[in-house]
Amino acid sequence: MINPDDLSCDFERSFGLTPRVYRAPGRVNLIGEHTDYNDGFVMPMALDRSTWVAAAPRADRALVVASREYRETITLDLDCHPPYPTESWIDYVRGIAAVLDGSGGPERAAPHSQDAAPARHLPDMPRAPDSPDVARPFQGRVTGADMLIASDVPIGAGLSSSAALEIACGYALLDLAGMPIDLDALARAGQRAEHEFVGIRCGIMDQMIACHGETSGALFLDTRTLQHRSLPLPASLRVVVGNTMVHHELASSEYNARRADCEAGVQTLSSRFPHVRALRDASLPELEGVRARMSDRVYRRCRHVITENARVEEAAEALVGSDFVRFGRLMDQSHHSLRADYAVTSAELDAMSAIARELDGVYGARMTGGGFGGCIVALADASRVDAIEVELRARYEAATGRRPDVWVCTAGAGVSRVK
Ligand code: GLA
Repeated sequence: MINPDDLSCDFERSFGLTPRVYRAPGRVNLIGEHTDYNDGFVMPMALDRSTWVAAAPRADRALVVASREYRETITLDLDCHPPYPTESWIDYVRGIAAVLDGSGGPERAAPHSQDAAPARHLPDMPRAPDSPDVARPFQGRVTGADMLIASDVPIGAGLSSSAALEIACGYALLDLAGMPIDLDALARAGQRAEHEFVGIRCGIMDQMIACHGETSGALFLDTRTLQHRSLPLPASLRVVVGNTMVHHELASSEYNARRADCEAGVQTLSSRFPHVRALRDASLPELEGVRARMSDRVYRRCRHVITENARVEEAAEALVGSDFVRFGRLMDQSHHSLRADYAVTSAELDAMSAIARELDGVYGARMTGGGFGGCIVALADASRVDAIEVELRARYEAATGRRPDVWVCTAGAGVSRVK
């Protein structure tokens, strides 16, 4: 765990100033995977692990950013935009800073324009419909800053360490500049930073939960309207996360490919059913109605998203009605659909979730996050959770030879200034 006082001291030693300290959490998604860029429903829970930023303003337009995890310090100039992505952690910081500053890179977008051009070196990155111009809610420019970043969200494990980084840095930059902070707009800014500066056409789930997480439990989020409501977790339940220890390597190219498949599906669906603007609007009978006009791959991608959206709604009902068995069954079905139809699981994710499902006291288990490695999430009975942790660790290691990280999560709060 990161201690904000230690981080402050480290900052003072490096930069000679007393910083403000901010944090934003990682997340685990209980159900609703790959639905967010289809205007659908998700049920994430913020983790009690965060990315922390100690920061102090500078008089110039430089961002001097030190990372504890990567043991490097990189200096950015807010007025100069060299080619990106550099495929380094700094892209997230550069991205959120440029979006909030309204400077957006060499091809700077005209303010208020929905058709802003993406950066020149990302030719395959058309501006996504869910990536609106977000410069407007943030009038003004950010200031230069010295920043020290530290994180206890595992990196590359599908627990959204990148959104935690963007949101923590974005919140810090707005606060240092004395700009008002609209959390939905900050979430959109983080999403846009990933689209335009990292090259991942992600949805809005991770940024929204990093902004709006609640310590009582999960959120039910409608990613079309951004409306959300809390889904507190009862004391008899525990959320267990298991890290397969396989990094999600393929994640960015395959992620964008899945998104393109969904868009192809929407095009076919909407030519017959004009009310379908996103897969969120389509039903299974409608999908069957156009099945002959799409590839089997696109059909299966769409089927996953349509059935997953229905599962999230049913899971929310089950949780409110304390029907944990039903909730668990929906998690299992979600995993199956992500494996068979969406093809984003891995042998390790399949193995670990199957092991978890067999354990006494586990209601259900599934992969969580983008997939291709990373973590599983299981919903478990509180009274059994110690044994579950031990068994899951032992059996996964026996099955794969990898020693996993397994822990019981407590829900964390959304982004905040700590001191
Ligand atoms: C990643 C993305 C999210 C979401 C998930 C899959 O975490 O950042 O927007 O699409 O994958 O549900």
